[in-house]
Amino acid sequence: CRSVIFLCFLISLLPEQQLAMQTAVSSETSRITSNSITSIKHSKHLIVSAFIDHRINKAIRVISIIRRDSLQPFYCIYCNDDNNCQTAEAEVQIHVDHFGFPFGASDVLCHGAHTQSATRVAISTSAKISEIHNEDFLPIKNEKTHESFMFNFTVCISSLFDSYNNVLQFAQTVEIYKLLGVQHIVIYNTSCGPDLEKLLQHYKREGILEIVPWPIDHFLNPSKGWDFMYHGGEIQYYGQLVTLNECIYRNMYQSKYVLLNDIDEIIMPYKHANLQLLMEELQQQHKDMGVFFIESHFFPKTQFEESGRFSRPEWRNIPGVNIMEHIYREPDRKDLDNPRKMIINPRTVVQTSVHYVPQKYGDVFFVPFDVCRIVHVRSPRQGTLTKDQLVVDKRVWDFASELISNIDKTLQASGLMEITD
Ligand SMILES: *[C@@H]1O[C@H](CO)[C@@H](O)[C@H](O)[C@H]1NC(C)=O
Ligand SMILES: *[C@@H]1O[C@H](CO)[C@@H](O)[C@H](O)[C@H]1NC(C)=O
Repeated sequence: CRSVIFLCFLISLLPEQQLAMQTAVSSETSRITSNSITSIKHSKHLIVSAFIDHRINKAIRVISIIRRDSLQPFYCIYCNDDNNCQTAEAEVQIHVDHFGFPFGASDVLCHGAHTQSATRVAISTSAKISEIHNEDFLPIKNEKTHESFMFNFTVCISSLFDSYNNVLQFAQTVEIYKLLGVQHIVIYNTSCGPDLEKLLQHYKREGILEIVPWPIDHFLNPSKGWDFMYHGGEIQYYGQLVTLNECIYRNMYQSKYVLLNDIDEIIMPYKHANLQLLMEELQQQHKDMGVFFIESHFFPKTQFEESGRFSRPEWRNIPGVNIMEHIYREPDRKDLDNPRKMIINPRTVVQTSVHYVPQKYGDVFFVPFDVCRIVHVRSPRQGTLTKDQLVVDKRVWDFASELISNIDKTLQASGLMEITD
């Protein structure tokens, strides 16, 4: 192959001058991967996806997972559709929240000429462009900005793992979100239980759910928690921060707003019928704000509503928590903030964490608890409280009639409930 010989000649001539070098490469020498996670050759580090960042001079941002104690120089090799490739030394930004784990969510940034016309990029530990045929290239997304979006509301759910099989709560959550105006849900799937698998397949067929394969356990020993000292492992919570950031860039020009919450949380407007009306009002009042914090409130799954009206026999064999039976909310604790999740305008966010946004352009707004809060049905945090010390909160019931029939249809279409009538 002539181009390779030509390259070797160039490199032997100019050993120190490869930075920002431009060259033509035959197309068959570079592979474009469709995998969600890719190793950087000859290193422990991983790369995930690449995006043009229009806000920083159209640099290429590669969402990455960097081993913090083995930081080394990286080089970007980026090419356009005519196979013109450039190399540039990469800038590495490790996110501040790594919770002590050896691997941390990171951005590898490629600055240089013509990044905006690049369509693929590889991250290499070597500046030698002669190595190009050994590299795995990532396709570069977000090549164009958009002013109008395919979706108004997208929910990003990070890392689904183990044999999580909480079908009823997930179906209820998705069906409530649909009634609230969510049109798109992205979930990062490492693994799940057999019944949830059927439900996910159904929602994927229906089109509301985008499932991103997330085989992080093939690359690292992921932690089941967020605290390295306590949970061990190589990366926090199956790479939760990596997936949240990936999801923001994935939806930057697809969705007007992105909701960042866990699989068992619902960001619930209490004064508006849906998310559209909520955000119209909030954004009207707070024009420059791009991050809206929502307080999470615990509804213990150990306390059941007395009448039993939603304890439906049809759902008896469906695994998981029936959130409609749990309407008792834990009160605020003295001197302790409730955890927060977020609704964001993704175009204002640079880097996110789970409960706050460390790098952004706009301002943040703390949405009052009575306007919007998170319904989080789970094991109790204040487990000693009795029913009369909890607060009755029946917001979920407002959706009951439509919700129940939608859930039944969904469970039937998923093959999880018999079709009767
Ligand atoms: C998104 O919201 C706008 C109003 O802001 C509305 O006109 C449009 O129909 C909505 N798009 C979708 C896909 O629902
Ligand atoms: C989730 O990932 C597991 C493990 O790769 C796979 O077996 C399963 O089919 C995936 N589920 C969906 C709905 O994509």
